[in-house]
Amino acid sequence: TEQQLLDRFEARIDDGAFVEPKDWMPDHYRRTLVRQISQHAHSEIVGMLPEGNWITRAPTLKRKAILLAKVQDEGGHGLYLYAAAETLGVSRDELIDQLHAGKAKYSSIFNYPTLSWADVGVIGWLVDGAAIMNQVPLCRCSYAPYARAMIRICREESFHQRQGYDALLVMMRDGTPRQRDMVQDAVNRWWWPSLMMFGPPDEASNHSEQSMRWGIKRISNDDLRQKFVDATVQQAKVLGVSLPDPELRWNEAREHFDFGPIDWDEFWRVVGGDGPCNRERLADRAQAWDEGAWVREAALAHAAKSTTQRKA
Ligand code: ACO
Repeated sequence: TEQQLLDRFEARIDDGAFVEPKDWMPDHYRRTLVRQISQHAHSEIVGMLPEGNWITRAPTLKRKAILLAKVQDEGGHGLYLYAAAETLGVSRDELIDQLHAGKAKYSSIFNYPTLSWADVGVIGWLVDGAAIMNQVPLCRCSYAPYARAMIRICREESFHQRQGYDALLVMMRDGTPRQRDMVQDAVNRWWWPSLMMFGPPDEASNHSEQSMRWGIKRISNDDLRQKFVDATVQQAKVLGVSLPDPELRWNEAREHFDFGPIDWDEFWRVVGGDGPCNRERLADRAQAWDEGAWVREAALAHAAKSTTQRKA
């Protein structure tokens, strides 16, 4: 019966087993994964836009080559993730339609503008740093195709984080006072949105309990956020920037940094579609899709021709 299948499934999860696409799984487990993996895939490809904005204006050839590679990696991450979602029985076209129709979520962070070159460095340091914190535990996610995709993504993500930190170090150590101010300004603007990336507080996170039980999520939103703050404070010190939170201080008893309140109204506004760049991001994705139509047509025509030739 259905109940026996569910009991056996949950017992396997409790034993630490991985679930493969052809294994039986509860419908809710499948829907949860399609939701999370597709949101993650959308985040990767929408995430190409804020930094893509700076490729033509990177200050040196070296920085331009690094940034090009990084933005390309993000397109690749989107591909692995759409492919992982497809193993659950949805098509990539369906998912992309949902994104373009404004029905799908993607990470709140990519709805903020990149105003200066320092933003590119800060995205690498803080945004990719937060992404790694959240994604390393996903390498142990119970759904095997997602876990496998995450291993490669995390390796690349760690390169992204380091290139950002390195770009900022150069500006802080060898830069002019104006360049240092630019870095500080970017940190001031990206700090709070980076903390929001981990999602709502645990008590407001409606999916957490079930996802933790099924081994989809391994560490809670608030615990990951705390780990991120603790790691980042030291890095800010080395860099020589301040973090824009007067309440940030070491708590001896907790052995963690305390931090000030997060503006959850802003978070939900951005998630709901009303952030500084939501409309621009969706319009850019839709335009890229339309302008790429000829590439998809050519690829399909080529594939059809190769099949005919192979048959002949
Ligand atoms: N931006 C947009 N939406 C968010 C965010 C965020 N930062 N955080 C949470 N939400 C949404 C959830 O998607 C969910 O919406 P839904 O019910 O319509 O699907 C709702 O807020 C409630 O949140 P939770 O119950 O906490 O949702 P969940 O258990 O899925 O946890 C989390 C959210 C932590 C983001 C999880 O989905 C996850 O780990 N995803 C994979 C990582 C990822 O997507 N990273 C993208 C950014 S990093 C990058 O691309 C470089």
